[in-house]
Amino acid sequence: MQNMPFPIDWFQQQTTPFYYYDFRILQKTLEAAKKAVVENDNYHLHYAVKANSNPQILKKISQAGLGADCVSGGEIKAALAAGFPASSIVFAGVGKADWEIKLALEVQISCFNVESIPELYVINDLAAEQGVKANIAFRITPNIDAHTNSKITTGLRENKFGIAMEDMVFAVKEAISLPHINYVGLHFHIGSQILDNSRFAVLSERINKLQDQLDAENIKTSTINVGGGLGVNYEYPDEHLIPDFKKYIDTFRHILKLRPGQQVHFELGRSIVAQCGTLISRVLYVKEGHNKKFLILDAGFTDLIRPAMYNAFHLAQNLTATTKKIEKYDIVGPICESSDIFIKDFYMPEGKRGDLIAFRSAGAYGEIMASQYNCRSLPNSIVSE
Ligand code: LLP
Repeated sequence: MQNMPFPIDWFQQQTTPFYYYDFRILQKTLEAAKKAVVENDNYHLHYAVKANSNPQILKKISQAGLGADCVSGGEIKAALAAGFPASSIVFAGVGKADWEIKLALEVQISCFNVESIPELYVINDLAAEQGVKANIAFRITPNIDAHTNSKITTGLRENKFGIAMEDMVFAVKEAISLPHINYVGLHFHIGSQILDNSRFAVLSERINKLQDQLDAENIKTSTINVGGGLGVNYEYPDEHLIPDFKKYIDTFRHILKLRPGQQVHFELGRSIVAQCGTLISRVLYVKEGHNKKFLILDAGFTDLIRPAMYNAFHLAQNLTATTKKIEKYDIVGPICESSDIFIKDFYMPEGKRGDLIAFRSAGAYGEIMASQYNCRSLPNSIVSE
């Protein structure tokens, strides 16, 4: 699929910076993701709300029939408001507060992804207060190196997330012994922006071994949640607008050995929303240094923090360049910190004050991670028809 041309005249009339979401791309992405699971009616897609909780995006995704993966009470509220049924919501997070657990029990979400034994006991106590039984899965740390940015890898043993593999059988037995807990399954998430499917193959093999251990103890597990993590192509978004969901899902389909009746859940965030979103900003100044040229924009890391926080690359495009002459720029924002740099030494058509600069693939972990540092306003968002 080709990217649709941007409505540049319309952009010109808007106050920058803002996020532009192309719903035609989101729709195609959702269709491809759903098509990849359609052959297996025991495979279920959840959307990781943390990637982007813009209400219009959430509504579109809930209408497509995906469930929601939430990591806070706020996300549960946002998911419900957007029309996700409570029965499609899973709730992860290492530090669930009491009010969040109570809310999740009240609205009857489908499953808590429990990350520690102390959390298990608190859920049991709070469920007892409400006279209900909580469905829980244990997040198991499978000790797999996802080969991704160290700030977004989560499956290694020394992470704060989840329960070590060695403690799994103890944890599950403990859960089964508690009166207000209903043990349903295992949950995993090894990291984000993973482009090498062999990592998911290794995860599937690890899950097979863990399932053998539970079988040996005669423990029945109904759901296997393999988390999210499928990456997107930030360098060439137009050539790879739709991630290869089929190859990703097939990796699990070929390797995971399921027990009769078992359900498999996925929690995809980035791969669903990254490519439909673009941050649009304006050039305020072109500053000619002695050795460098700077494009100084009205967008900064308060609008898109990924480059400053993870050294992430977002392709920059000058949408209104009037010359084909190529220049080398450091593209920077207005924030009073030297880390407020989008890209260094980037070749692009010569820019001038007022040009519109687009940062591509910004639909995931973009708008949602915006801040008001320097008393800046949060970016607006605009959606295509
Ligand atoms: N499930 C769990 C338990 C997670 O922790 C995450 C992401 C996901 C699912 C969704 O992962 P995805 O499919 O989006 O890779 N802010 C960072 C990414 C942090 C990811 C956190 N967990 C970034 O901008 O790259």
